[in-house]
Amino acid sequence: MRIYIETYGCQMNMADSEIVASILKHEGYDLVTDLNKADIIFINTCSIRDNAEQRVIKRISELDALRKKKHWLKIGILGCMAERMQDSLIKTHNVDLVVGPDSYRDIPRLLSSQGEGCGDLISTELSETETYSEIYPAKINSNGVTAFIPIMRGCENFCSYCVVPYTRGKERSRDFRTIVNEAEKLFSQGYKEVTLLGQNVNSYLWNQGEKDEVNFAKLISLVAEIDPLLRVRFSTSHPKDISQELLDTIANYDNICKFIHLPLQSGSNRILRLMNRKYTVEEYLDKINRIKRTIQNCSISTDIISGFCTESIEDHESTLNIMKEVCYDSAFMFKYSERPNTLAAKKYKDDVSDCEKTRRLEEIINLQRELSFQSNKQDIGKTFEVLIEGESKRSTDKLLGRNSQNKVILFDKKDFQPGQYVKIKVNDCTSATLFGETVS
Ligand code: 5AD
Ligand code: SF4
Repeated sequence: MRIYIETYGCQMNMADSEIVASILKHEGYDLVTDLNKADIIFINTCSIRDNAEQRVIKRISELDALRKKKHWLKIGILGCMAERMQDSLIKTHNVDLVVGPDSYRDIPRLLSSQGEGCGDLISTELSETETYSEIYPAKINSNGVTAFIPIMRGCENFCSYCVVPYTRGKERSRDFRTIVNEAEKLFSQGYKEVTLLGQNVNSYLWNQGEKDEVNFAKLISLVAEIDPLLRVRFSTSHPKDISQELLDTIANYDNICKFIHLPLQSGSNRILRLMNRKYTVEEYLDKINRIKRTIQNCSISTDIISGFCTESIEDHESTLNIMKEVCYDSAFMFKYSERPNTLAAKKYKDDVSDCEKTRRLEEIINLQRELSFQSNKQDIGKTFEVLIEGESKRSTDKLLGRNSQNKVILFDKKDFQPGQYVKIKVNDCTSATLFGETVS
């Protein structure tokens, strides 16, 4: 049986697809990169916003059309939509299998019982312990240079707009030894950068109160010590949990990247309270100041939601003001999308019109474009160590790499190869990209 996996959504989903691939390979299934050669197509899905779900629904109907010609083809839904929509995916969208984020070890059983024409079609039990700890991922579409390592699963923050605590369950940390082993193995295979992943990595905690207790600051230092040539990144940090100990650790290791993603969501204290974010704008800015004081040349990115329930023009303007004050290097920006059964859906009215959400989002995006351009212009004339990830998508005679600050830099290919570190002097930029040349 040949399997094809298509992934939507966040980095965690990319990593989960590699876990699924690994589980299935061990059971003798073949992974294929051409969808037309597959007997089973898995779609790993995202529920974070309605438009993410709509894309997948559209994709399912395209694949359903393919199944009319290839009647043995099976379609399986993995990830957050599987958990949220359960058997309605089978009843309404005619898929064959539905498997939630904590049930991937169950896929071989589900597939073999289907082959016998009986058995379950759905497995979506959430777990308090599953971390797929010992599973070494089977890489899919990897560039061979950068890799993701999930260090924990789930989230218990219950931000009022967010579906993740319902689709991914309780927060749990993975055994630190398996994380370090995975990073060591990746490095020995030629990978030069790992990103430690979790919904809130700052609350990573292994074996609380025991002799071998490890928190996130300790974990990241253990990974950084594997080799100075292995870069370490992490995502995502919740502002309420980012600690001074972590900032000191980042400052202490050259190979821990000087880049922090710190989602603000809104610059209004009233909206932050409704969002259940558990920090005020003042506390957030205090964390930003600590970052700037502790880590030299640290770039900062964020997430912003426009048009959350009851957001006024004044609230929106407070968001724009905080963006200017922090001067983010980059940002992910979204329109609020009500998710069924979340606290916000139950308690508040989604009362900002779609048109007004779009207008505010455009203002946010335009401001961020200016801030990113400003930040990039300050890099002109500076020289950075850049890890080469591959060819530029736009031009085959250019290579693409990133500096420690996570900025994309393009430069002439010459004889350089992906996986090499090079020194690049920046000579031009747009709001999204730096351009430069190699210096010896
Ligand atoms: N609507 C819009 N954006 C959302 N996010 C999470 N839930 C929603 C939602 N319901 C955004 C947040 C989060 C990022 C991953 O997605 O900004 O940080
Ligand atoms: Fe969602 Fe908040 Fe958890 Fe992030 S921290 S996954 S936004 S509930």
